[in-house]
Amino acid sequence: MSTEEATMRMGTTARVRAGFVSVVLALIVIAATGFVALAQSSDRSAPRSWWDMWNPPWMQRDMWGRGQMDTDIRQRMSRHWTFMNQGAPTEYRGALNPYSADTETITEGRALYQQNCVRCHGKEGLADGEVGRALNPSPALLAYLIQMPMVVDEYLLWAVSDGGTAFGTAMPAFKDTLTEDQIWKIVTFMRSGFPPGIMEQ
Ligand code: HEC
Repeated sequence: MSTEEATMRMGTTARVRAGFVSVVLALIVIAATGFVALAQSSDRSAPRSWWDMWNPPWMQRDMWGRGQMDTDIRQRMSRHWTFMNQGAPTEYRGALNPYSADTETITEGRALYQQNCVRCHGKEGLADGEVGRALNPSPALLAYLIQMPMVVDEYLLWAVSDGGTAFGTAMPAFKDTLTEDQIWKIVTFMRSGFPPGIMEQ
């Protein structure tokens, strides 16, 4: 091979290599642009389009919609939905428990709870009272209910005062049996975690 021929061949190889490198670079740029676009489009804070491919309206309605729940669960949930959508009736709105959790209030609240609530909701709010066992929907698990962020003072005052008539449940309305003060004492007892009396410890 002459020197001239050798130089020419090297030139060709170099040109082919340069071409290859630029194609690879171009592909990298295209891929990077694609990734950025993808990352932006899957931004979770972006407003949802009206059609959610993974949870379309028919699925929401026919699979996990309100209509698919058992009647007792629906009745139980009705109070929660009502409160979240409309709030408590005006007469209870903004009501706050005036009592602090001192021993005297808790003891009084405990006695009132035993007289009025234990038979259904059970000693510790676990819905295992004698009467409560036969009810459908069953009495609420007050021990857990009381820990829900939604269950503010006005919620409890409303639920205990008006009972479950509006929702077709056996929860009695106590507004004619108990004074507001008495209800607050019961609320204080429940919020303190249903402590047992000295005699029971
Ligand atoms: C005759 C049985 C019975 C008695 C007595 C009773 N409850 Fe209920 N209570 C129920 C039933 C059943 C439910 C569940 C259905 C509903 O939410 O209305 C319930 C629900 C509740 C709720 C609402 C639960 C929720 O999910 O929001 C509260 C609060 C409550 N009871 C507190 C009390 C307190 C406090 C007393 C005593 C002053 C009491 N109950 C007495 C049967 C009873």
